[in-house]
Amino acid sequence: MLIDTFGRVATDLRVSLTDRCNLRCTYCMPEEGLQWLAKPDLLTDDEIVRLIRIAVTHLGIDEVRFTGGEPLLRPGLVSIVERVAALEPRPRMSLTTNGIGLERTATALRDAGLDRVNVSLDTLRPDVFQALTRRKRHDDVLRGLAAARAAGLTPVKVNSVLMPGLNADEAPDLLAWAVENDYELRFIEQMPLDAQHGWKREGMITAGDILASLRTRFELTPEGEGERGSAPAERWLVDGGPHRVGVIASVTRPFCRACDRTRLTADGQVRTCLFATEETDLRAALRSDAPDEELARIWKGAMWGKKAGSGLDDPSFLQPDRPMSSIGG
Ligand code: 5AD
Ligand code: SF4
Repeated sequence: MLIDTFGRVATDLRVSLTDRCNLRCTYCMPEEGLQWLAKPDLLTDDEIVRLIRIAVTHLGIDEVRFTGGEPLLRPGLVSIVERVAALEPRPRMSLTTNGIGLERTATALRDAGLDRVNVSLDTLRPDVFQALTRRKRHDDVLRGLAAARAAGLTPVKVNSVLMPGLNADEAPDLLAWAVENDYELRFIEQMPLDAQHGWKREGMITAGDILASLRTRFELTPEGEGERGSAPAERWLVDGGPHRVGVIASVTRPFCRACDRTRLTADGQVRTCLFATEETDLRAALRSDAPDEELARIWKGAMWGKKAGSGLDDPSFLQPDRPMSSIGG
């Protein structure tokens, strides 16, 4: 098992497949100038599948989430999913994507064994989309979402980050749209993970702000109170249900005590937390022909060093060097 000194057990593995992206969301990447990981440093498909196999067979991982950057940009994605689906025991598998290109790949991903997708979409307005992401791809995302739903990659979850002055007023519109289209909407508080280090606590849209805004148009009733468990999203029934809305209050209501995650970056580093300032190198051992047991031991050692929490509420908090695009969401 991947256990830490606080007794938490990691069962959910997030694998970043690339640090590249075809959008430039302001809360994640700068307009230009971000240095990509060098190709030889990236894990190969075989290396990724091997590490996931070790995680599933030796370390108790039962859920694998592929992230990026933008994971659909990884050429081997469908085959990676197929090979992971063949593992025993078979982990649940989902993909966190910006949706661009999903229209073409949703069915192949479903056939390969993917269970679900989380699609990031922050606005229903094409002009605001362009301001937020610096690209004119709003329509591609909407088509990707529809394709995921049609392919049965359900429940299709939509992640939205609200940014002051851009889409801060859109929460009720987004929810009405999600309910109508049968997507499960979750708002994520903006976290200090942007490459430009421009995040400020003051002025950020909090979970409290989001709920107040939603309640101007919807009746929200908390679902399963006290049952949040390791699920970062707190959920509410919308107008009595069956549709729900989630809020991930990573900043104002951190859920570190119940964290069940471990992360693998595209260049083969284990991270115990989004906000970790240290990483553990699995790639070097992998490439010096370490046996499975040795890789499992290194991974366990990394998790044993997991910190109690993100430290976000600590005045001495230091943002990690890597931006979200290279850590994986
Ligand atoms: N704060 C909150 N969410 C973020 N995401 C990317 N960067 C940030 C940030 N700084 C979101 C993306 C995606 C998920 C992986 O994380 O929008 O939905
Ligand atoms: Fe887990 Fe780190 Fe997130 Fe806290 S901040 S829930 S420890 S990944």
